[in-house]
Amino acid sequence: MADSVTITDNRTGKSIEIPIEHGGVDGAKWKELLGNTWFYDPAFTSTAATSSAITDIDGDNGILRYRGYPIEQLAEQSTYLEVAYLLIHGELPTAEQNEVWTQDITYHTFIHENMRKRFLEGFHYDAHPMGMLVSAVAALSTFYDNAKEIQDPEVRYRQIVRLIAKMPTLAAACHRFSLGMPFVYPDNELTFTENFLSMMWKIAEPHYEADPALARALDVLFILHADHEQNCGTTAMRTIGSAHADPYSATAGAAAALYGPRHGGANEAVIKMLTEIGSIDEVPAFVESVKNGEGRLQGFGHRVYKNFDPRATIIKQTADEVFAVTGKNPLLDIALKLEEVALADDYFISRKLYPNVDFYSGLIYQAMGFPTQIFTVLFAIPRTAGWLAHWVELLEQDQRIARPRQLYTGLGVRDYVPIDNR
Ligand code: CMC
Repeated sequence: MADSVTITDNRTGKSIEIPIEHGGVDGAKWKELLGNTWFYDPAFTSTAATSSAITDIDGDNGILRYRGYPIEQLAEQSTYLEVAYLLIHGELPTAEQNEVWTQDITYHTFIHENMRKRFLEGFHYDAHPMGMLVSAVAALSTFYDNAKEIQDPEVRYRQIVRLIAKMPTLAAACHRFSLGMPFVYPDNELTFTENFLSMMWKIAEPHYEADPALARALDVLFILHADHEQNCGTTAMRTIGSAHADPYSATAGAAAALYGPRHGGANEAVIKMLTEIGSIDEVPAFVESVKNGEGRLQGFGHRVYKNFDPRATIIKQTADEVFAVTGKNPLLDIALKLEEVALADDYFISRKLYPNVDFYSGLIYQAMGFPTQIFTVLFAIPRTAGWLAHWVELLEQDQRIARPRQLYTGLGVRDYVPIDNR
């Protein structure tokens, strides 16, 4: 027994032994033997498209670590801004670095007035906030022309600060716009999360004071959502980044991927599903309908986690802390029943389907007063740090432009037929 695979090209009789390292084999070795013969892998289920030192996931054992730190420790002891620094710089900040970082982020939260007046206010009154956010982030690139200078570390850092700082401002602006409420300017006296809550909820009071338990709960949710290695959105970020697009355009692409209901849009879909189920009594019938192929159990299943999602475990605890302040979300009982029925059912057991991060996060957001339409936006705010960490890593790796191969299944050559003869 050797920790390697041997591939033989039966066309030439040549063989190559490739060591299995870190659970995989090096495609460059495959290429050495097979040249232009490609590897068919739709949805990249067997392809590591990059090496990365940012986030480590062990799906079988429910482990998630950012730069080596267990997610449980970060959720309990850290803050989102500190975690954002960790993801981007690779180390937790010292007290001095933390002060500079926090100051930098705090003083870049304002958006250009034209972004609000000319751009955001141009949307239709009922525009989905996620659609607005994706477009607004892309539009930011038009305000910072030097963002294209991606090889300059100073310029790069400036855009990272701007993106992390402005996401909550844009998010809250999109929400207020959909309600016809006036825009609230950032408040530099507040922490990152308190400031976001202020921009969301402030009405006429001179100074908005967030409930500390709710602000902390949201900060924990931001930590849990900050990165998740090569998921669909991050892959989009790296793919667009590999073309050397500016970071605003790349982040907009990543956010667009996140918008999908199979990805970050699932938290919104969970609330819709629970509302449609309506009562505990309807849960068994709903689970049967899922098993019969009539839709999916939203917030269940994961490409990587095949035992449990550690984020879901922390979120369940956070939910209790939030409900102690807001009162229990009436949909919670349906969610708990749904989890109980599904986890006892062979359909879900045999497919290793467990609640993921989105199953309970929506219940918390709803209890905190966030409308369902903004749930994915709440995911995009912290994920921006992860996307940017991967973007920086990609540029430092000097990776070639992402360009997969394809299995062509179309027709062979044929002659053009003039329109009158078709
Ligand atoms: N409900 C019912 N059946 C499911 C579900 C589900 N939620 N998820 C997977 N399955 C079944 C699927 O039908 C398939 O069955 P079979 O082998 O009989 O064809 C099997 O499980 C494997 O599913 P898959 O679609 O091949 O798995 P995937 O790794 O391609 O997809 C997923 C992963 C997360 C997209 C999928 O589980 C899903 O659609 N879940 C619901 C949406 C959701 O909660 N998404 C949030 C993911 S976590 C946050 C994030 O990434 O943003």
